[in-house]
Amino acid sequence: MTKKIFSGVQPTGNLHLGNYLGAIKNFVSLNNDDQNKCIFCVVDLHAITVKQDSKVLRNNIRETVATFVASGIDPSKSIIFNQSSVAAHSETAWILSCVARMGWLNRMTQFKEKAGKDKEKASVGLYSYPILMAADILLYDATHVPVGDDQKQHLELCRDIGQKFNNDFGIEDFFVIPEPLIQKEFSRIMSLKDGLKKMSKSDVSDLSRINLTDTKDQIINKIKKAKTDPLPMPSSLEELNERPEASNLIGIFSSLNNSSLEEIIKKFSGKNFSDFKNELSQLLVDKIDPISQEIKKLLNESSYLDQILSDGSQKAQEIASQKIKKIHKIVGF
Ligand code: TYM
Repeated sequence: MTKKIFSGVQPTGNLHLGNYLGAIKNFVSLNNDDQNKCIFCVVDLHAITVKQDSKVLRNNIRETVATFVASGIDPSKSIIFNQSSVAAHSETAWILSCVARMGWLNRMTQFKEKAGKDKEKASVGLYSYPILMAADILLYDATHVPVGDDQKQHLELCRDIGQKFNNDFGIEDFFVIPEPLIQKEFSRIMSLKDGLKKMSKSDVSDLSRINLTDTKDQIINKIKKAKTDPLPMPSSLEELNERPEASNLIGIFSSLNNSSLEEIIKKFSGKNFSDFKNELSQLLVDKIDPISQEIKKLLNESSYLDQILSDGSQKAQEIASQKIKKIHKIVGF
């Protein structure tokens, strides 16, 4: 069966190991399957829900494209474009905001986390952000959406909005209701400084994450400084439940070299964390440094990156313009 894949990444800089293991690595394998049609969107409209410097944003858009390509996404086999270049995203988001209910949005935990204590000062865009995300997905009839675990609730909302639009207008199959593609394990990579906190671009401490542009030395240093607990390496799976930092580091190891948790536990059981950390650093350097080098190389080829975006935007525009015409007709415009 042909899967229509859609996913998005915000161009807010500092793309990190969580983005890679939770989402981009999966984009690459889905894109390598010729049966799939893949669309990967640089969601610049989402990025401006918090204040951005326009020059920095422009660079971050290119850096996100460079990261996709450096990670192994072949632009000739997928559509890579930036959200703001296809106006139908904003327009569909408005129409869907008249379908979505306040109560649904009020339940979104990411807004609560991002807005913090002072909700009154958060932008309206940050609040309605998941509706724009629903528009992105529904416009392209996506059947599958690969994301990390933190986007699960937004995808459920997208399904609810699509379903309600179909019901309200009495057209059962108009919007395709998408399936989330969330990996069973390691769909949430945690901070290197706190195993209970998600690895995030916005963490003030750069030591909390491995950026995809980090050098070998930075990677080694961050793993050396990564938080652990005073016990030796765990000797059973059960122990991982109570040891969040150990669990996260072992999870990263397992995800990077596609080995099972059991194998890693068996290999390092009872040893010092330092032995394990040395091997983890080496593995990270082997996997991430080539991506980092390639990103830096591609960033010097800005016309190539811009060409990828303009080709992708044209293709995305063709698909989205068909869908928005139908939406207009259904709504009565
Ligand atoms: P964003 O830009 O925050 O993150 C991009 C992708 O990386 C995943 N991710 C993680 N996975 C595991 N562990 C982590 N610590 C971690 N941090 C981030 C995210 O789950 C995501 O898959 N709203 C989305 C972007 C978006 C989108 C869409 C996604 C806009 N429209 C349509 C899918 C479909 C976001 O802010 O992702």
